[in-house]
Order: sequence, then C-alpha cells, then structure tokens
Amino acid sequence: MSLYRSIIRPIIFKLPAETVHEVGLKTLKFALTSKSIQNFAADRFGAGEFGDLERFGLIFKNPVGLAAGFDKNGLVVNQLASLGFGFVEVGTVTYEPQPGNPKPRLFRLPDDEALINRLGFNNDGALVVAERLKKLSRKCVVGVNIGRNKDIPNEKATEHYLQSLELVHPVADYIAVNISSPNTPNLRELQKTARFEELLLCLETRNRELGRKPLLVKIAPDLTESEVEMIVAVCMERSIAGIISTNTTIERSGLKTKDAARFGAGGLSGRPLAKRSTDVISIIYRYSKGKLPIIGVGGIFTAEDAFAKIAAGASLIQAYTGFIYHGPAFARYINSGLLGILKERGFATLDDAIGSGHIY
Ligand code: FNR
Repeated sequence: MSLYRSIIRPIIFKLPAETVHEVGLKTLKFALTSKSIQNFAADRFGAGEFGDLERFGLIFKNPVGLAAGFDKNGLVVNQLASLGFGFVEVGTVTYEPQPGNPKPRLFRLPDDEALINRLGFNNDGALVVAERLKKLSRKCVVGVNIGRNKDIPNEKATEHYLQSLELVHPVADYIAVNISSPNTPNLRELQKTARFEELLLCLETRNRELGRKPLLVKIAPDLTESEVEMIVAVCMERSIAGIISTNTTIERSGLKTKDAARFGAGGLSGRPLAKRSTDVISIIYRYSKGKLPIIGVGGIFTAEDAFAKIAAGASLIQAYTGFIYHGPAFARYINSGLLGILKERGFATLDDAIGSGHIY
C-alpha cells in the first residue's frame, strides 16, 4: 500500500473534506517551486509511451485527465501536469464569481469510496480565471468548463453561457459546457430537447466566429437512454467535438454507507458511479457509431476501471474522486497500468482499444 493510503490518508480523512482540499491546493501550489514535485513524475508519461494521442485536433501526452471541480480556479494546472495528468479541466467557472452553497457541502463516504458534494460552483468567475490562465505557460492540455450562475434563470442561460464562452475562449484548449451539475437549481433542465438545441446552436455559432475550438458537452448519468440518444443526435448535427460522460449522480441506491441521507442533497461521485457512467458511454458510442469522441469519467480508481471506459468507447478518461482516495501517484498509477493492460491484451495502440468492448 502506498505511503499516502497507509499513513497520510488516515490522518487527513479525519479533517473536514473541504479543508483538506484547500490545504491540498496550497501544498500543490507551493510544491512546484520546490524541485520535489517536478522530479516526482516529470514527463514520465511524455510522448513515446502512449505516443501522441490526437483528439478533436489536440495532442494529449496521455489519456488521463483531472476532471472538473478539483482546480476550479486554474491555480495548480502545471503542478497537476507534473503529477502525470495528460490534461486538466479547470472550472466550473461562471460569468460572475460566486461563493457557492453554505458549508459543510463536501462529504466523504469511505465505505463506498465515494464523495457527496453540493459545492454549487464556488469560483472566482470566468474573467479572473481567464486572466490567470493567460499568464500560464502550460504543460498539458487545459480545458475550461463553463456553467451558469445560480441566480440566472434558464430562459437567460444561453446569453450567460455565451458571455463566459467569450471570456474563456482565448485561453482554453477546449471548452466544456456543463449542463449536468445537480447543485445549481434546474441546470439539468438544459439537457432537455428544445433548450439544449438552442444552447448548442448559439454556442457553436459563436465558437466558430471566435475561431473554432473543441466544444464538448458534459452530461449527467441520470438520463434515460432516449434522452442520451437525443443529446447525441443534436451534438452530431451541430458538429460538437465530444461528450464528457458523466457528471455526479443524484442516485443513492446500493450504498454501503448507512444513512447516506444525512448528508443531504448533492452529487455522488466515485466507485458507486462507475457502472452507470460506463453504461452511458456505451449508449453514446453505439448511437454515434463511434463517431463522437467521448471523455469517460465516473468512479475510476484503477487502470481496469479506466480500461472499461475505453472499451465502452471513451478515447480519453478523467477522474476526481479516485485521485482523492489514491493521492499524488494516481495518474502515474493509472497510466502505467493502462499501458500494461494494452500490452497484455494485444492492443498495439490505445486507439485500437477504443470501443473494443462492443460486439456488433
Ligand atoms: C465535481 N464535479 C464537477 N463537475 C463539473 O463539471 N464541474 C464542477 O465544478 C464539478 N465540481 C465537483 C466537485 C467535487 C468535490 C466533485 C467530487 C466532483 C464532477 C467531476 O468532474 C466528475 O464528473 C465526477 O466526480 C465523476 O468522476 P469521479 O469523481 O467519480 O472520478
């Protein structure tokens, strides 16, 4: 067992989850100035191991990304790249800065290797984050995830997303449109047909005017198969670059943690989400006939978990909760494990494994 899991995690898991997160960000920020973190994983997973992975016109050094919500304000992107992540999704950012929901709003469920959060898009705002990223000489692909402020009704959401898009567009390698957080009232309604079509049409049109960058949509795991199919159809019609599958779930069934209801509302992430998010990936892959790039996210703790997402149709993967439970070696562990699995199962490249779990 790693030092993190045997010694550090038992200590820090006694402290409130959000406090640990804040201390973790500060530690990472400081660590880049010391040589230690750079030596820890410096370019170990650079070109050569996976080869350059080309996805929606961008080159990724490896397929393992850090999911949105960890580095909401773009404070530690390069430090995370040094830990072995091939890409980092900053955000969610909203047009106006906002404090998020009252604390406590982040909870651990260790028996389930899960988290429940209702942070509610606490962030510095799109302008500040864009300014921050502009100054950064980045070491990996940087996506920026945009959402809407809590007090903006869905009728005005399109305009609001457009304003955020304009601010982050110059500094984002790709832009993720978050319409799936359960912690902003009614946000998920934007996944429904009419609003979804309007939102994507306006965003992709503006994106083209600004100089086209990959625009991806992040969806919820709590959709029916036909809702996912509608989303895929619209994304393909609008030439959207890809889908991020999935955000956290509002489901609570099957948990080992007793009385999880005591934590209240919020999105559940981690192990209990793994199967459902993989199922959604499979639906997208099948319905799009493998033509729509998918970033697979939800409950990845091991290289086998990551491979399951790739076999279901994902061409990149992301994690958040697995990183919290495994610690700083997480990205290296998944990357080296994935390389081992590819070799063992006779795939010459990662691309050969994408969708390999589907039997036609
Ligand atoms: C998240 N997630 C998230 N997603 C998003 O699009 N915008 C956000 O701001 C956040 N914030 C956030 C905070 C916390 C504390 C967690 C645990 C998660 C969702 C995240 O990006 C991911 O989609 C899910 O957590 C599923 O992946 P994991 O955590 O099971 O690997």
